[in-house]
Amino acid sequence: MTDLTTSWLGLTLRSPLVIAASPISHDLVAAKQAVAAGAGAIVMYSLFEEQVVAEQMAAHHFLDSRIDNDAEARSFLPDSDVFALGTEPYLRQLEQLCQHLDVPVIASLNGNTPGGWTDYAKQLEARGAAAIELNLYDVVTSATRTAAEIESDQLGIVESVVNQVSVPVTVKLSPFYSALPAFAKQLKNAGARGVTLFNRFYQPDIDLEQLDVDLKLAYSTSAELPLRLHALAILHPSSALELACSGGVHSGLDAAKAILAGASVVQIASALLEHGPEQLATIHNELHQWLDDKQYRSVSEACGVMSLASAPAPQQWERLNYMKILQGWQPRKRK
Ligand SMILES: Cc1cc2nc3c(=O)[nH]c(=O)nc-3n(C[C@H](O)[C@H](O)[C@H](O)COP(=O)(O)O)c2cc1C
Repeated sequence: MTDLTTSWLGLTLRSPLVIAASPISHDLVAAKQAVAAGAGAIVMYSLFEEQVVAEQMAAHHFLDSRIDNDAEARSFLPDSDVFALGTEPYLRQLEQLCQHLDVPVIASLNGNTPGGWTDYAKQLEARGAAAIELNLYDVVTSATRTAAEIESDQLGIVESVVNQVSVPVTVKLSPFYSALPAFAKQLKNAGARGVTLFNRFYQPDIDLEQLDVDLKLAYSTSAELPLRLHALAILHPSSALELACSGGVHSGLDAAKAILAGASVVQIASALLEHGPEQLATIHNELHQWLDDKQYRSVSEACGVMSLASAPAPQQWERLNYMKILQGWQPRKRK
């Protein structure tokens, strides 16, 4: 039988299947069910910079009552309809999860500007987080901030969080980097231990009837996995970071592919939200069965077997293959 124990960020996990940052961690019952179904760890939903800043602003507000009459100052506070203000509910939920789950709980911090908010990483550690996943999700709308400036700010955030805590820090990225291997190297130099590939960009649609932006968060499908497989396979040989796959894992076979491409762990959100937390057991059993059938003794033995360095035809991950596929394409014959 394959030993599913794996190591991620220096933590020993009983399974490479990890509950991704999502509302599952809002709900202790659902989190317990997913853990009972075999999850090796859980990542909490993100604590947002805006929530932290709101708390800091509220402290100023208390110290300086002039703000009461200052509409401009008040306007800096985020809308409380959108953000649960303050950090305490998050910290309490973190403690609850740590107390009731027998797997590591990883806290998630999301922000996009360097600043004092990163001090909050210390509180996450103090309240029990086994690691911190820094979610660098940002929607860049400015035409004057360059990619280099944005990446430099992101590295600054990573460095400042790493400097606050002794627990490991992993960084969750979007897929949109021009030179991912070089950025991964810089993340490593900034002190990150791992990287999670990728966040799913929230993609608003247009409602043609209402002429409005349609705000919905659709679940992923397995069709989103190959983007991750490609990045994992490329990063695995060159990066000293531990790789986590996030996005498009809906079955044990999807999880197996992510591990073969180079992921130490596989994070899952949509499949559990769609089918319930017990779905993790189905994914777990299928992954275990596949690894067994292929006679892998451990997850680490399978990890990276299909990476750019180890695949039987590594050039298939590269640019030349893109050209071959395009040029070899044949239109389907019409009946
Ligand atoms: C409802 C919902 C809420 C999410 N909340 C967070 C979050 O707070 N922080 C975060 O880093 N990712 C969040 N995610 C993204 C997931 O962690 C995950 O990266 C993404 O959904 C891709 O994985 P999947 O294909 O298994 O869904 C959320 C996803 C969903 C569907």
